[in-house]
Amino acid sequence: MVDILPSETERWQRIETLARNHFSLAGIDEIRTPLLEGTELFKRGIGEGTDVVGKEMYCFVDRGDRSCTLRPEGTASVVRSVIQNGLLSQGPQRLWYGGPMFRYERPQAGRQRQFHQLGVEFFGLSSARSDAELISVAWDFLKDIGLNGLTLQLNSLGTLEDRIHYRIKLVSFLEEFTELLDENSKKQLIKNPLRILDSKNNDVQKLLDKAPTIGDSLSKESKERFCQLQQILKRLEIPFVINQKLVRGLDYYCQTAFEITSDQLGAQATVCGGGRYDDLVEQLGGPPTPSIGFAIGMERLIILLSEKTFDSNIPNVYLVNKGKEAELEALFLARNLRAANIKVELDNSGSSFGKQFKRANKSKASWAIVIGDEEIINGEIKIKSLDKLSNKKDELVFNMSDMQNIIQFVKPFDH
Ligand code: HAM
Repeated sequence: MVDILPSETERWQRIETLARNHFSLAGIDEIRTPLLEGTELFKRGIGEGTDVVGKEMYCFVDRGDRSCTLRPEGTASVVRSVIQNGLLSQGPQRLWYGGPMFRYERPQAGRQRQFHQLGVEFFGLSSARSDAELISVAWDFLKDIGLNGLTLQLNSLGTLEDRIHYRIKLVSFLEEFTELLDENSKKQLIKNPLRILDSKNNDVQKLLDKAPTIGDSLSKESKERFCQLQQILKRLEIPFVINQKLVRGLDYYCQTAFEITSDQLGAQATVCGGGRYDDLVEQLGGPPTPSIGFAIGMERLIILLSEKTFDSNIPNVYLVNKGKEAELEALFLARNLRAANIKVELDNSGSSFGKQFKRANKSKASWAIVIGDEEIINGEIKIKSLDKLSNKKDELVFNMSDMQNIIQFVKPFDH
């Protein structure tokens, strides 16, 4: 398990603050549940056949002879809490949580035995539109903190009946090729065959390319629902890829399943995972309640953001300017940006653009704003990203008088 040292805590706090703001703007309230729950909750909620319950939980018997478990995830605990505290009778609930989770996994970069999640759960909302809204909360949050190279992977797991049909088709296909399966997949073929889709073994993956897909086993209603979700995501301009092998590691999912992965994380590429779990609340003793949620792994966010600097001495904007009028205009702009709480370094050297750009890069600012004679003539300024990880376009032109837009564009993500 890993310490979070003083040099890192500021980064954590900034992400937590941003998350809090982001979720509150979307009308999502915080819930805090205990780190310790009765073991039965996770066995019933997550499923005994999963790796999490079968191999990874930290369980012990307390002094009252009860089996207790350090929570391996947040969803089951939140479901227990909303049932126990009668929250579901008060209409749809939109909740978020954050904090440590515990799984006895083999530690590696991006995978720890104590790790932290930021999660969101929606209860009592069943439409494809609510799936899209939930996905957009995760997507926009990750984009807002400045991550790029993200991919939203999407699948539909259909209803329980759809999965039973699919399971039969998949098993009968794989049974013909058992000699090509590794030991783990052979075990899963009996216990939890859909998990084989997630195999890391290349030979198994090659075989799976020819296997029947879950899409073929979806009922008409499930197919329509999935199409509707895709249409809404397109309208929201949230790009996605369909991954019919995306099954997730926990048993409670149905219909929509999704993951957001990063091309900068290596083997542990999933930053965010989630999906719909319409049967879980009832399964754990509550009223039938359609539900959907996601959780983001904080440590993976920290890795992705580690190249981004939060040093308070670093300006957000470096103002590159040359020419008599341009220099005055730059001073005017610097004052306006500073008044909007944006840290600006104004180059006063009057040296060549090349030299000023070198200094801009050295300053580690996120943005260079460029004003020269040409810009003055056109009434425009250029904003250039100096940040290799930025997801915003490389160079954009703004109207000089459009101060609100300029401020909006360059303001740091935690404002
Ligand atoms: P999960 O996919 O097991 O889903 O975990 C969500 C995220 O937590 C992962 O994508 C990853 O970023 C992070 N994570 C998981 N295990 C570790 C680990 N050992 N070390 C570091 N990070 C890790 C869930 O937990 C579900 N409860 C998500 C959900 C909420 N589904 C519906 N509502």
